[in-house]
Amino acid sequence: MATGMSGKGSVLVYRDPTALARGAAEFFAERAREAIADHGMFQVALSGGNTPRATYETLATAPYRDDIDWRRVQVFFSDERFVSPDSPESDFLMAREALLAKVPLADDAVHPIPTVDVTPGESAALYTQTIRAAFGAGSTELPHFDLILLGLGADGHTASLFPGTEALSDAESLVAANFVRKLQAWRITFTYRLIDAARCVAFLVQGEDKASVLSDVLSGADLPAARVDPVDGRLEWIIDEEAARRLPAGVPAKRM
Ligand code: 6PG
Repeated sequence: MATGMSGKGSVLVYRDPTALARGAAEFFAERAREAIADHGMFQVALSGGNTPRATYETLATAPYRDDIDWRRVQVFFSDERFVSPDSPESDFLMAREALLAKVPLADDAVHPIPTVDVTPGESAALYTQTIRAAFGAGSTELPHFDLILLGLGADGHTASLFPGTEALSDAESLVAANFVRKLQAWRITFTYRLIDAARCVAFLVQGEDKASVLSDVLSGADLPAARVDPVDGRLEWIIDEEAARRLPAGVPAKRM
């Protein structure tokens, strides 16, 4: 299966978006339990867009609201639109409304990407420092997130790594300011270097409108999402039947 350069990864298929949200919430909870048992905390980067909202809302309800040791969870964002945190476009706002305001996180546990009174470049630099400090990672070390959630755009982008943008070729930074011409907008995004250092990367993909691009990505097409390739970590595709409609032959998929 050509998911990522090394062809590793697995595909979990859920019957519909509701089942996907529950399955993704369970997956999140399992990673959290694992990380907390292993090193006392769970450092996770949330994805934006529409798909993950239902998963975040599920995590804010029983049993996950009560079962996850939220005080040991540190929350980051794998990308952000360069807008005010109270803009309806803000990924942080979506996550706060769907999950973060509803679970007992520690006071300093949520790390939004700065988008006010900074330039995009300053935001990327500041967020890099935030991540390094949270992981105790010096300038030459790579922070290893326990879980990075990602989505898949119809054009094959993930996080804010859009086709034809400069951040795709940034092999040095951990976080990049990325001008997206087709949106005429700045985005702040994790780079492949940071994503691929994660212990686990999970794509959440749903809907028939993603079936074609998902098929291309899993076939190894030259699209940003297809370049995600965790060095040592797991790569999971958590999808629904609609998005699975055109799974390439030979891609092992587990029906959940
Ligand atoms: C964002 C996301 C982006 C998203 C995809 C899929 O900030 O929008 O990081 O990469 O995951 O665009 O978005 P949907 O889930 O809304 O289809």
